[in-house]
Amino acid sequence: MTLFIHRLSLAVYFIIVLVAVGVLTYFGMSYYNLPIEERYFSGLHELLKPSGYIGHGLGIVGTLLIVVGLFGYMARKRMKVFSRIGVLKYWLELHIFMTTLGSVFVLYHTSFKFGGIVSVGFWSLAIVWASGVIGRFIYLQIPRTIEGRELSLQEVKDFKDELDLRLKNKYDIDFSEIRTTKFSQLRLKLLSKNISGKDYKKVKALIRDERKIEKRIKRLAFMQSMFKYWHVAHLPFALIMLIIMIIHVSVVLFFGYKWIF
Ligand code: HEM
Ligand code: HEM
Repeated sequence: MTLFIHRLSLAVYFIIVLVAVGVLTYFGMSYYNLPIEERYFSGLHELLKPSGYIGHGLGIVGTLLIVVGLFGYMARKRMKVFSRIGVLKYWLELHIFMTTLGSVFVLYHTSFKFGGIVSVGFWSLAIVWASGVIGRFIYLQIPRTIEGRELSLQEVKDFKDELDLRLKNKYDIDFSEIRTTKFSQLRLKLLSKNISGKDYKKVKALIRDERKIEKRIKRLAFMQSMFKYWHVAHLPFALIMLIIMIIHVSVVLFFGYKWIF
């Protein structure tokens, strides 16, 4: 996937979520704002109540999106048969997109009316979603291969040494000398070394990368252990949410809610 297509896919994900929130809010605001006891008299009740055509459909489609987004990622990450399909970090982006869109649909499915045990499932979903955002932040702090595999401390150090060497051999720049210098001052230094404007950009990028790597090396052990703790916190809520969802779906099927079927 080229950089352009990757960015385009992220933009499309973002727009789809935004449009979904916009359309559902615009269409249902007047209904969702009504007190529970007055909703029955609204013309939108038959459509938007959790068992209504749209409300119920949102529950089903939202749940499917969450389930596929979750198990798709887990299968790609953990099962050897799928290990060659696409790049892991793109799968994580798909996981985030599908679970976010699914959570939006489930939120509108509840019609902002939270009662009974199923509301525990809903709040677990909200916690998993919020902790996902925190996890994503930690995930980005850990250097990875292009594929998305975590790099070991040694691999990161080797990568830094490689950048060091490139700066030294190609441009005769010693990173340890310039690491505290601001770019404007650096420019002067480089100009005095007769480095062209085009090369200057490359040097600037190399130095920026090296600074980033240096910061990450300092924080690596901390971030890796945070990520382990994060997994421990993230999983139980995902599990609670899935169990309550299965009970909820079994109960509604038992009571004969069949949507369009
Ligand atoms: C994560 C997934 C889901 C969550 C968190 C969720 C949450 C809720 C909540 C909070 C309500 C309102 C309860 C109340 O009236 O106080 C509700 C109702 C309902 N849900 Fe879901 N739901 C989910 C998935 C589904 C799915 C997949 C279906 C269909 C197979 C479904 C069908 C229904 C129906 C038919 C009602 C109306 C029940 C009634 O009026 O008694 N839900 N759901
Ligand atoms: C709302 C529904 C969500 C559920 C049920 C869910 C569930 C999970 C589970 C069970 C895992 C562990 C997968 C594995 O290690 O095999 C996971 C991983 C992850 N999720 Fe989510 N997630 C949700 C939403 C999100 C969101 C909204 C984000 C970010 C904004 C996110 C970010 C992540 C990250 C960064 C990982 C770790 C990836 C890794 O270690 O390879 N998740 N999620």
